[in-house]
Amino acid sequence: MSDDLSQMREDYSLGSFRRTDLDECPLEQFSKWMNDANSAKIIEPNACTLVTSSISATPSTRSILLKGIENGHFLFFTNFGSRKARELKENPQGVLHFPWWGIQRQVTVEGSVDLLDEESSEEYFHSRPLESRLGAWASRQSEVVESRESLENAFEEMAARFGENPPKPPFWGGFRLQPMTMEFWQGRTGRLHDRFRYSRTTENEWKIDRLSP
Ligand SMILES: Cc1cc2nc3c(=O)[nH]c(=O)nc-3n(C[C@H](O)[C@H](O)[C@H](O)COP(=O)(O)O)c2cc1C
Repeated sequence: MSDDLSQMREDYSLGSFRRTDLDECPLEQFSKWMNDANSAKIIEPNACTLVTSSISATPSTRSILLKGIENGHFLFFTNFGSRKARELKENPQGVLHFPWWGIQRQVTVEGSVDLLDEESSEEYFHSRPLESRLGAWASRQSEVVESRESLENAFEEMAARFGENPPKPPFWGGFRLQPMTMEFWQGRTGRLHDRFRYSRTTENEWKIDRLSP
């Protein structure tokens, strides 16, 4: 098996990326690449990896869905009792990684994280399908659960309690990540990939550097 793994490799030749191709604003650049990922039929292009870290610097990672970009902040939603939310409370720094392997690209966004306002969390919660809204009530995310059956029972209890109109649980809502750096990576042949990193210098200004692959 390890032999098979060692022989697995792709040549990255789909595209190239020069300094002159870049938008001065990384959020605009992100939006262009998100459109490309969408047009290329990447499965769930808004799915990304969120990395957090505890106060003692133990990292943890999981997939989440990016649900919007507002005023330069990346928005996602989760349970406030979850491991990620607990870690963000004690150490409000995060990394989002968008793995668009199918178009030989990745984007990495690092920044500080705070809570989204309650009104926006309410609005998004009520836009979700009923099952997802009930599921949010039924799940004590990241805690040990006795069995699949107990989870399904909790769901049925919530369905009986709230019917068609569950309110937003007080333990569920949005976070927003404000980017400090954003890196755009395009795979190239011979592992000489194109990497450009935007670093925030002031609120609306960014320095752009090419990084060695
Ligand atoms: C594609 C995909 C998207 C996901 N999106 C979310 C999300 O937006 N919010 C969320 O809380 N969990 C989401 N999950 C589940 C998380 O990956 C994770 O299992 C859960 O949030 C618990 O993580 P934690 O224990 O590290 O806090 C998603 C999983 C996958 C595979």
